[in-house]
Amino acid sequence: MCPPRYFAVDYVINPWMDPSTPVDVDRAMEQWTILRDTYRDLGHTVEEVEPRPGLPDMVFAANSGTVIDGRVLGARFRAPQRAAEAEHFRRWFVEHGYRDLTMPRRINEAEGDFAWTGSVLLAGTGFRTDPEAHAEAQETLGVPVVSLRLTDPRYYHLDTALFVLSEATDTRQAQIAYYPQAFSPGSLRVLRRMFPDAVVAGTADAECFGLNGVSDGRNVILPLEATALADRLAARGYEPVLLDISELRKAGGGPKCCTLEIRK
Ligand code: ARG
Repeated sequence: MCPPRYFAVDYVINPWMDPSTPVDVDRAMEQWTILRDTYRDLGHTVEEVEPRPGLPDMVFAANSGTVIDGRVLGARFRAPQRAAEAEHFRRWFVEHGYRDLTMPRRINEAEGDFAWTGSVLLAGTGFRTDPEAHAEAQETLGVPVVSLRLTDPRYYHLDTALFVLSEATDTRQAQIAYYPQAFSPGSLRVLRRMFPDAVVAGTADAECFGLNGVSDGRNVILPLEATALADRLAARGYEPVLLDISELRKAGGGPKCCTLEIRK
């Protein structure tokens, strides 16, 4: 995770960003700190990357790397405003002993567009990550990749429209939640075929970034407005943890965007 010390909305690279709406950095820091401490209270280890002035979106660490079995595939951002973030995270991985590290040749916004189910990597394209980056991820990480096409600019990253509730080595045992209206007809058929048992979320849960949740297989961090989704997850035996991320949402991000998951 990367603290939002230099958080701002001063450029527009997704429909949620509006530079005329004021941003409160202290509030962003508070909300982010509660998210970090929630992970720690749940028993997870959190490492912090030093934020850099002039890189206001660096708080969205999920976009900077995909790590599976200790192998790291770095990032290459579509927007020039974010390009420099990739190198800061690459250096963090090098300094922390990750030897198997590849930087992508194609546009690749990492976990923004990649979701690991425990057996396959679901990969989004349409707005940010190049479709060719999916094949590159498969070759580099050595995992099967399933491409999914996003069609609504408000759900520009896969992680704004889908997340994994519980991983499983048998694909059909994995559980996911997604927002169907964000996907092309063909990709929606793929999701229905692969995950007939998925939690299918509605518009209210999607609009507050409810699909940008983070699950450890039991506890599920969600924006506090995602109440309908939280109830449905509770009915399936999950423990929803509702947090205020309203300040970070002004940049088009939620809990997952702030969280790069390291799978050793
Ligand atoms: N302002 C950032 C962008 O548009 C937000 C990124 C959110 N991250 C995510 N994983 N969806 O790139």
